[in-house]
Amino acid sequence: MPKKETKLSDMDAMQRSLNVDPPIVSDHDPTAVSRKKDHIELAFKSQIAKGQIDQRFYYEPLLSAHPQKETSIGLPFLGKMMRAPLWVSSMTGGTQMANTINHNLARACKDFGMGMGLGSCRALLYSDEFLQDFNVRHLIGTDLPLYANLGIAQLEELIESKEVYRINQLLDKLQADGLIIHVNPLQEWLQPEGDHFKKPPIETISYLLSELEIPIIVKEVGQGMGYESLKALLQLPLAAIDFAANGGTNFAKVELLRSNPNQAMIYEALANVGHSAEEMVEMTNNIMAELGDQVVCKEIIISGGIKNFLDGYYLINKLKLTCIYGQASAFLKHAQGDYQTLYDYVDSQIKGLELANAFLSVK
Ligand SMILES: Cc1cc2nc3c(=O)[nH]c(=O)nc-3n(C[C@H](O)[C@H](O)[C@H](O)COP(=O)(O)O)c2cc1C
Repeated sequence: MPKKETKLSDMDAMQRSLNVDPPIVSDHDPTAVSRKKDHIELAFKSQIAKGQIDQRFYYEPLLSAHPQKETSIGLPFLGKMMRAPLWVSSMTGGTQMANTINHNLARACKDFGMGMGLGSCRALLYSDEFLQDFNVRHLIGTDLPLYANLGIAQLEELIESKEVYRINQLLDKLQADGLIIHVNPLQEWLQPEGDHFKKPPIETISYLLSELEIPIIVKEVGQGMGYESLKALLQLPLAAIDFAANGGTNFAKVELLRSNPNQAMIYEALANVGHSAEEMVEMTNNIMAELGDQVVCKEIIISGGIKNFLDGYYLINKLKLTCIYGQASAFLKHAQGDYQTLYDYVDSQIKGLELANAFLSVK
């Protein structure tokens, strides 16, 4: 009888072409068979094109163990010890949803050691009606930074009406560590009910720094800021600058979407001006080289368009000042429902950050 030709099964052929081991059933590795099967089935779906490779990092698989429980990515920031270099960027209060969002976010800050900026607290300057929306110090605890937030236009008004004392009252009622000032000329201009600044914001900020003995952070609201504005801020005794760069949520665009179609068409190009977080990191490094000892503000929150832990990890490693990164919309997406959803999201981001810290260095 002619000898029957041995034919490779499809699976064997594929294994050989992939150069993977044949399935081994082992007492020590009970999932080996199903895993190997998955590998074979998924291998062809897992091709990465050259252009998809993230060019921002050196990947160093040989030099670290996996992150251990005691691995620390924390740092001292704003006078407190943060367990993760992450900031919850300011988001508005004043609605039922804001209450849930702020409370969820504050709990996450406590659980993961992050800092938090509240959204505009304008409503609390003259009334306590919405205090519960913002009242989160008991949730975040006293060990982590919590900042109140007001717009530069309101601050101009408070100075004009000689009511600057209301800022201290606001901080007291929120037990906040300091104040974030948002500087948003395009948003105010495009907002039908918006305010117009009577003075350059840098003058108002300088005045408040001389009048108030509180830590102050200055931010934009999603447009970022250019070289000269950054340079001016870096020479002030601010607790920090929060970039709020362009590339993510953009409040000029939010207002355009709220306005009538004519107005939107005329001004829509304004949403695209501004600076990305990456450009702002570069500018800040250049300003530091230019100014040397004249840089007085030593801490930065890199924010605006930070989509995930890799973006954040990249930028905090690029900047030559003490820094953390901030996100608004990414947290918002997960903070509107039950707390577990937010917890799982933040947990995954922090694990990703720890992994990046172990195996990636920035080019
Ligand atoms: C719903 C929402 C409300 C916001 N409200 C405020 C605010 O009251 N004050 C402020 O300074 N920034 C506010 N921002 C801007 C954010 O703090 C942040 O600078 C901006 O969204 C860019 O970050 P992102 O790209 O991570 O969303 C708000 C953002 C969102 C998404």
